[in-house]
Amino acid sequence: MSTPRAKPKYYLTTPLYYTNGLPHIGHTYSTIVADVIRRYKRMRGFDVFMTTGADEHGVNVERSAKKAGKSPQEYSTAIAAQWRQLWDELGIPGDEFIRTTDERHHRTVQWLFKRCRENGYIEKGHYTGQYCVHDNAYVVDAGPGDSCPDCGRPTETVTEENYFFKLSEFQQKLLDFYAANPDFIRPESRRNEVLSFVQGGLRNLSITRTTIRWGIPVPGEAPHVFYVWFDALIGYLSAVGGPEFDERGLWPADLHMVGKEIIRFHAVYWPAFLMAADLPLPKQIWAHGWLLFDSEKMSKSRGNVVRPRPIVSVLGIEPLRYYLLREIVFGQDGSFSYDALVSRYNSDLANGLGNLASRTLTMIDRYFGGEIPKPPGYGALGNEPGSADFASEALTRVTQLYDKFSFSLALEGIWEQVAAIDKYLTVEKPWTLADQPENRERLAKVLYTAAEGLRIVTALAHPVLPQSTEKIWRQLGQTTPLASVQMDQLSWGQLKPGTKIGKLEGIFPRVEKSETIERIESMEQEQSKAAEAAAATPAPTPAAAGPAAAPAGAAPAKIGIEDFAKIEMRVGLVKSAERVAGADKLLQLQVDIGNEVRQIVAGIASAYKPEDLVGRKVVVVVNLQPRKLRGVESNGMIVAASAGPDGSPVLAGFLEDVPVGARLK
Ligand code: MSP
Repeated sequence: MSTPRAKPKYYLTTPLYYTNGLPHIGHTYSTIVADVIRRYKRMRGFDVFMTTGADEHGVNVERSAKKAGKSPQEYSTAIAAQWRQLWDELGIPGDEFIRTTDERHHRTVQWLFKRCRENGYIEKGHYTGQYCVHDNAYVVDAGPGDSCPDCGRPTETVTEENYFFKLSEFQQKLLDFYAANPDFIRPESRRNEVLSFVQGGLRNLSITRTTIRWGIPVPGEAPHVFYVWFDALIGYLSAVGGPEFDERGLWPADLHMVGKEIIRFHAVYWPAFLMAADLPLPKQIWAHGWLLFDSEKMSKSRGNVVRPRPIVSVLGIEPLRYYLLREIVFGQDGSFSYDALVSRYNSDLANGLGNLASRTLTMIDRYFGGEIPKPPGYGALGNEPGSADFASEALTRVTQLYDKFSFSLALEGIWEQVAAIDKYLTVEKPWTLADQPENRERLAKVLYTAAEGLRIVTALAHPVLPQSTEKIWRQLGQTTPLASVQMDQLSWGQLKPGTKIGKLEGIFPRVEKSETIERIESMEQEQSKAAEAAAATPAPTPAAAGPAAAPAGAAPAKIGIEDFAKIEMRVGLVKSAERVAGADKLLQLQVDIGNEVRQIVAGIASAYKPEDLVGRKVVVVVNLQPRKLRGVESNGMIVAASAGPDGSPVLAGFLEDVPVGARLK
């Protein structure tokens, strides 16, 4: 039996991410959103538990491991460690990191299969069909040579003896379930999509494979291993007790947060597996949209990824959280742009909340010796007319929006209050009131009102900006951790006059936009190189998590000649060069590499004028994945030493004449 809980539980999950690659900000977005919900629900009185983790089996991981010359276990362990480390670093680790290679997970998958089988929902059969290796899914209705409708890659023809899950028997049960639980699939557009898919009829689903080794064995049925999606979904249950889930009292999940491309697996297959095994179903599946970059889904294979670390090193995690939640309407696709990120930072955080906190607290420090002033009538007649209403209206409206996961509108609502308090200060001019002793009471009222308004918006913004709001909270002299404050207990007037404010420190210093973007982009370029090298040769232990995560000053790992041989460098001749609009450091070059002319974007404009480069021979790394920098595609990299004054680039070159296209070895 489950242990009774003092508070209602709320169990939420992120997708379990594949370990055939490293996280980009699309994945980071999912985990950040889940973390925001986790923090919000805690402030609403729930005992929250969040699972994230790694989906480690399947052809993709097996192939990536082979390419890297590692065993799948060794490869996947190193990559899973990097995911985990990144979530830790970004302060979004969840409460549990489940790996599908964990023994507890194997046991749960085998147990759940057995239950489905005993209940008559598993049968043996043959399957020949087109399979998309990238998506780990058979493509229904595709013929040999057809491409996958989801990712566009060619499918492969596969024939296997498989165990099938009798999904067809669940069509009506699922439709009845959706009808009885209209909020099970969110948003509505995804619900409609799933409904029409299920209404169209369900085919039985092959859930084992004999063509691959890297999977969980089907007990007593070698060489069958479980299909990666049968395996992975069960991870949500393995994380909270598996067969003994009752003991923890966390199952069923209250929320599975996923990207829209995997809604079908979660909203159709997963509830059917659970129904077949007689287990409780999750309460809700929420599918968010995609982060797009240059109008396309950000993904490793398209080479248009943005990594979180460069942004976080330059601006910090909180601006990234704020930007993603504010700018992207939850449930819809949204374009990622550095420009919008930095603009939001300056307008809403530096000039908005940060500035309001700083001006309010500085004036309290200066005019009231660092103590929250006592407004006339405090505790008896109420405070500034309208203030209490203003706070309770904001609290109700914003919490309702958070409850619906309308994060963008919730933040808009909070920032309307920030602007209103700011305007109030501008109109009331406390700095003028301070000059006239007869206005002392009025001054106390104005600054109390601003500080109390600030306290309330700070609490409301906490789920999205946990660290900076905690700092403002302490500066307001509050001693209970903000994370433990309950939103429904917040009300106007709780800020006690006489409270000593904390040590004042700036929260969001303003930044210069183009310089900030350039710093992020050049770091991104560095990390992209490092990530490619790391993906090819993953670090053997979690401690050596790859160049991006290596502590400064750590000795670089030695590589073998076979690793070096993977980098193809050739002599190139610069045919033309021009500046990239809006980027001080970037040049767009056309470089002849012998058999073709490549467009390359290089961060060398601080050291070289475009006209001085034309006709110059350079060293080009020609087998890098294409990338876009400031919207301009770059197909390769020019080799330079960070050797000039201030680390500026100095191009590699040759003393003797060398033919264009010659390979460097
Ligand atoms: N392993 C499966 C999930 C199994 S869950 C039991 C998988 N993994 S994944 O590594 O490909 O991660 C997919 C998830 O990452 C998406 O569902 C989404 O949450 C997130 N995103 C990946 N790219 C994204 C964007 N470009 N934009 C937003 N989210 C993205 O699928």
